[in-house]
Amino acid sequence: MAEPLRIALAGLGTVGVGVIRLVETNRDMIAARAGRPIEIVAVTARERGRDRGVDLSSYAWVDDMQAMAGRADVDVVVELVGGSDGPALTLARSALDAGKGLVTANKAMVAHHGLELAEIAAMRNAPFAFEAAVAGGIPVLKGLREGTAANALDRIYGILNGTCNYVLSEMEQTGADFEEMLRAAQEKGYAEADPAFDIEGVDAAHKLAILAAIGFGTRIDFDAVRTEGITQVRASDIAQADALGYVIRLVGIASLAGEGEERRLLQRVRPCLVPFRHPLAAVTGPTNAVVAEGDFSGRLLFQGAGAGDKPTASAVVADLIDIARGQSGAPFSVPTTSLVPCEPADPGDRIGRDYIRFTVADRPGVLAEITAAMRDAGVSIESLIQRGRNAEGGDVQVAMVTHEGPERCVTKALELLDGSPSLTAPPLVMPILKD
Ligand SMILES: NC(=O)c1ccc[n+]([C@@H]2O[C@H](COP(=O)([O-])OP(=O)(O)OC[C@H]3O[C@@H](n4cnc5c(N)ncnc54)[C@H](OP(=O)(O)O)[C@@H]3O)[C@@H](O)[C@H]2O)c1
Repeated sequence: MAEPLRIALAGLGTVGVGVIRLVETNRDMIAARAGRPIEIVAVTARERGRDRGVDLSSYAWVDDMQAMAGRADVDVVVELVGGSDGPALTLARSALDAGKGLVTANKAMVAHHGLELAEIAAMRNAPFAFEAAVAGGIPVLKGLREGTAANALDRIYGILNGTCNYVLSEMEQTGADFEEMLRAAQEKGYAEADPAFDIEGVDAAHKLAILAAIGFGTRIDFDAVRTEGITQVRASDIAQADALGYVIRLVGIASLAGEGEERRLLQRVRPCLVPFRHPLAAVTGPTNAVVAEGDFSGRLLFQGAGAGDKPTASAVVADLIDIARGQSGAPFSVPTTSLVPCEPADPGDRIGRDYIRFTVADRPGVLAEITAAMRDAGVSIESLIQRGRNAEGGDVQVAMVTHEGPERCVTKALELLDGSPSLTAPPLVMPILKD
C-alpha cells in the first residue's frame, strides 16, 4: 500500500478525541477507501496530563502547538482548537505556509479568515478543507461543491445551530419558556456554559456565510450577515404560531437576486415561522438541516447531526480521505480570485409575510393605534390574535400575521409606534418562511 498520510492533531477536546477514535476504529476500512493509511503521528492540547479516555502513547506529544507546522514527519495539520483568531489562526497560517494540508472544523475562523487561508493554500498548492465547520456530520459543503456543481442556486437556507433548534423544539413540546429550556440544553451538553454564540445566532451566521460563498460563488462576507438570536422568543409566540399553522425555528437564509452589477446578496439569521408542511418544520432537537434550491436539481434537503464528537469527526476524516486520495479541490469551489464580490441586499426590499408580536398596556384604544400605524405604513393585516392578561401583570399580547408586502413597510409601521406609551416591550418581528 502507498505511503501513509501523516497527521498532526491540534486540540484533543470533543472533536479531537472523536477523530482519534474514528481513525483507530475504522483504520483498515479508511485505508482501503483512501488508497493509503491515515496515520496520526503527533498530538497537542493545553494540558498534557489530562485523561481523555483514549490512549495517546503511540503519538508524539508536542508541547508548542505552533511547532506542528514545521514538522517534517507531518503532511496535514488538523486544527480542532477553535477561536476565530489567536493560536488556531496562527497555526492554520503557518501550516499552509509550510505547504502542509490543513483540515479544520473551526467555522469562526473560516468565516473570518477563510479567503486568506484559501489564498495561502492556493499559493503553496496545499489542500485546505473544512467540511466539519458547517452542520457537523452532514456532507453539505461536498454536496454543494460537487453534487450541485452544475446548478445555479438562488437560495440556501437551513437550521444551522443544534442548540437553538433543541431549545425551540423543546419549548414547542413542553410549553416551557426559553430560560428553562436553555438550562435543559446545557444539562444535556448541547449548549456551552457560555451559550451566547449559539443563542444570539452568531454560530449560525458563521456557517451561513460559508454556505453562501460556496453555493453562490461569492466572496465570503460574514460582516454582512444580519443576525438575530432566539432570546426574545416566548412560549406564547410558539403557541400562537402553532394556532396559525407554524413552528418557530432559527433559520439562516442566504438569497441572491439581480444580475451583474445589480446582483445583491441577503444573508440573515433569524427566528422564522415555518409552515407545518415545510420539511424544516419536522427538524427537531439538536439536528441541523440545509436546503439548497438548484435550477435543475430542484429542492435538496441535507439533514443530520450538526454537532457531537462522532458526526463531526466523520466530516473531519472524510476531508482527510479526500486529501489522501489527492481529490481536494478549491475549498470555496472555485479559486478565490474567481469569487465575485457581492453588495449586501437592502432587507427592506424583501417581499414576504411577517408575524409581529406586540406587548401592550391593557387599555382601550391600543389596538386601534397599532392597526392605524399598520395602515399608515401600508401593511395589510391577514390575521390578528389578542391574548388576555398574562399571569405576571396587566400587559396583553397582540400577535398578527401580515399579507405579503415589502419588509420596509413593517419597519416603517414599527417606527411610527416607536416610543408609544401603549407598547410596554419592544415588538418582535419574525418572517414567515416561504415554501
Ligand atoms: N463540539 C462539536 O460538536 C463541534 C462541531 C462542529 C465544529 N466544532 C468546532 O471544532 C473545534 C473544536 O471544538 P471542540 O468542541 O472539540 O472544542 P473543545 O472540546 O473545547 O476542545 C478544544 C481543544 O483545544 C485545546 N486547546 C485550546 N487552546 C489551546 C492552545 N492554546 N494550545 C493547544 N491546545 C489548545 C484544548 O486543550 P485542553 O483539552 O488541554 O484544554 C482542547 O483539547 C471548534 O472550532 C468548534 O467550533 C465543534
